[in-house]
Amino acid sequence: MTSTDVRVLRVDAEDPAQDGVFRAWAVVYEDASRDALGEAHSSWGLEERRELLRSTERRRLAWAAIVGNTVVGAATLAMPLHDNLDTADVDLAVSPGHRRAGIGSRLLATAEAEAVRAGRSVITAETQWGMGREDDGGAFAASHGYAAAQTVRRNTLPLPADRDRLQAVLAGDGADGYRMRTCWDGIPQEWLEGRAELSRRMSTDVPLGDLRLEEEVWDADRVRSTYAQIAAMGRRVVDTFAVHRSTGELVGYTQVQVDRNGLAYQQDTLVVRGHRGHGLGLRLKAACTLAVMDELPGVSGIRTWNADDNLPMLAVNREVGYVQDAWLREWQKVL
Ligand SMILES: CC(C)(COP(=O)(O)OP(=O)(O)OC[C@H]1O[C@@H](n2cnc3c(N)ncnc32)[C@H](O)[C@@H]1OP(=O)(O)O)[C@@H](O)C(=O)NCCC(=O)NCCS
Repeated sequence: MTSTDVRVLRVDAEDPAQDGVFRAWAVVYEDASRDALGEAHSSWGLEERRELLRSTERRRLAWAAIVGNTVVGAATLAMPLHDNLDTADVDLAVSPGHRRAGIGSRLLATAEAEAVRAGRSVITAETQWGMGREDDGGAFAASHGYAAAQTVRRNTLPLPADRDRLQAVLAGDGADGYRMRTCWDGIPQEWLEGRAELSRRMSTDVPLGDLRLEEEVWDADRVRSTYAQIAAMGRRVVDTFAVHRSTGELVGYTQVQVDRNGLAYQQDTLVVRGHRGHGLGLRLKAACTLAVMDELPGVSGIRTWNADDNLPMLAVNREVGYVQDAWLREWQKVL
């Protein structure tokens, strides 16, 4: 087979005539992720992918690489719509049995050309690999002009975690002027603005390595629509906030989402700069973890991704009981 035997097709997940292609396209991602990470793979589910393609957060375009009648490659280009308007992210996968035949390169060229057409000049991509394995995707990225921009550890907390230890972290909550508040599947209307402000700060307060990302633009509507999208993806979501009691201000938050398969994903965690040094990061995590254990006892673990140089977050996670089980690397190319 040569790369000329490959057909690249734009995938429209809303087109019933393309349902088979769309499903096969999603399977390519899952197979590639399983190949890199084993059963503890990190691929989105089919319905989650369908919903992400509808997102108002990022415009997403998808392509399938087809040999004969078989979908053997998948690419998605995601372009932020609220901020970072010169960036785009490429998510690429080729079925393990069809590699080193130029298919990944064809898909990447297609996605990059579309990014250029859309005025995007900073392209990012991610690779993931299991402990003790090689970063094969990284070798591909480097050979296509991408530079490593950040190394990230994937850490997992097996559940149920040590309940007594988590409760001990929360003993005396409120006594120092901060109280943890937890809510499921959305947040009170009066917290939307405060949550938007936290998300804005989160976008630049975390270590970004060499990634060229600008501060994100957030308002209450954007926050509301992210919760609507999480619900549409069939996920449960729990947020814990650190509330400054004397002002009522939200000064920290953490979020965990649980997918249809009962796998939990740690999302953002932030304590606003002026309120650091009070153990709020650990308390947020302890409260949120207990909430997951109480509400969804079937969840077997929570996954989180932390930059290799984010020492405070890694220390909090170690304290809660997280153990590293994979690597991720962010790659970047400036066109
Ligand atoms: C990365 C991936 C998409 C590459 O797909 P592919 O179809 O095998 O890529 P190509 O055949 O176009 O590779 C082109 C070049 O990239 C480099 N390359 C690709 N895979 C490599 C590997 N495992 N080791 C070293 N170099 C590699 C080589 O220079 C190769 O040219 P060559 O085969 O003539 O030596 C595929 O390995 C994959 O799906 N990996 C898992 C998902 C992933 O990491 N995606 C993110 C990519 S940024």
